[in-house]
Amino acid sequence: MKTRTFQFAEYGQPTDVLHLAEQELPEPGPGQALVKIKVVGLNRSELNYALGRYVPAREFPSCIGQEAVGEIVALGPEAQEGPRANEATPLTVGARVALLPGRVDICGMGAYREAGLYDQSALAPVPDDFSDAEGAAYWMGILTMGGCLEQAGLNPDNTRGKKVLVTAATSSMGIIALKLAKAWGAETFATSRSAEKAKELEAVADHVIVCGDSESLIAGVNAATDSQGVDVALDPVGADFYEGLVAVTANGGDIVSYELITGPVAKVSLPTLMINDLSIHGFTIFRVHKNPALLDTLIRQGMEYSEQVRPIVSRTFPWEQAPAALAELEAARHVGKLVLLVA
Ligand SMILES: NC(=O)c1ccc[n+]([C@@H]2O[C@H](COP(=O)([O-])OP(=O)(O)OC[C@H]3O[C@@H](n4cnc5c(N)ncnc54)[C@H](OP(=O)(O)O)[C@@H]3O)[C@@H](O)[C@H]2O)c1
Repeated sequence: MKTRTFQFAEYGQPTDVLHLAEQELPEPGPGQALVKIKVVGLNRSELNYALGRYVPAREFPSCIGQEAVGEIVALGPEAQEGPRANEATPLTVGARVALLPGRVDICGMGAYREAGLYDQSALAPVPDDFSDAEGAAYWMGILTMGGCLEQAGLNPDNTRGKKVLVTAATSSMGIIALKLAKAWGAETFATSRSAEKAKELEAVADHVIVCGDSESLIAGVNAATDSQGVDVALDPVGADFYEGLVAVTANGGDIVSYELITGPVAKVSLPTLMINDLSIHGFTIFRVHKNPALLDTLIRQGMEYSEQVRPIVSRTFPWEQAPAALAELEAARHVGKLVLLVA
């Protein structure tokens, strides 16, 4: 069958380089599913991918996107080898499924499309009471932020009372992190550079701090914790916040870096690191995919805590407006997830 998909043939701003193209899809092969896409969730990594600042495109033209909800319209025969679909994923024609970020071939079958052919192991279940848009705004957050919490040593049984700091918390990742840590009993601290967006965070986090550099981060966390600091900090901001993160993490605490929005080189006070017995971790979603047991755990937790961790869908766009939607994502005026409505 023929389907329409967004593609780009060179790196650049999505509004300049992303275009709709036609693609011929074969019948599903062994272990594959043909999925009619309904809603696509946008991620900052897609903006970076188009700009040439994420994993390099395998070839040009490249498709784009890795998060969506859709309906299975055809299934290939059972595969004899390779990774299996998670047991909670409904593998029947007519079933509603999500794409599993990290397993999608972004270049060949990226999610910004009307229909796609995916390995069944690249599909995930959607919580029953989620809208399609909420389903398309969920699994990147659960795998990434659940994975970061796990890397910091937190789980549903040991998080009660722990102080968890989430920086750039207005992001779709940040909202999921705050809600998941809260569902596990943490006291949560959220940051944003914007006083206006911070107001919206008050419904999600126990403490909200408006800050844009290490100095204001330290002042805000000290005020909110009576200078006791936090046990765990999850950070995508990088360079601009690092001195602050090290300063506000309490003795024995963990910092998890999962992006470097403001730059890759950070100033770290080694004496503070040593004296306060701090651990710094680096995280990517690929860590989860290297560990099948962790992936199963995160999908199970995603289903179990879905009511408390329901994502915030900030704004919807007709899918043909994907380039403009990515420009809106870059402007960072949103709180939560931007999504594209396909069908
Ligand atoms: N490691 C991984 O495997 C992995 C997986 C998924 C996502 N990520 C990363 O997680 C982050 C969040 O993803 P998302 O898709 O949810 O992003 P998003 O919705 O676009 O949110 C990004 C947030 O970052 C903050 N921000 C933007 N530019 C900034 C700057 N120059 N300085 C400081 N803060 C800035 C903004 O918050 P305020 O305006 O409120 O400050 C913005 O809301 C992204 O950086 C993404 O690449 C990493």
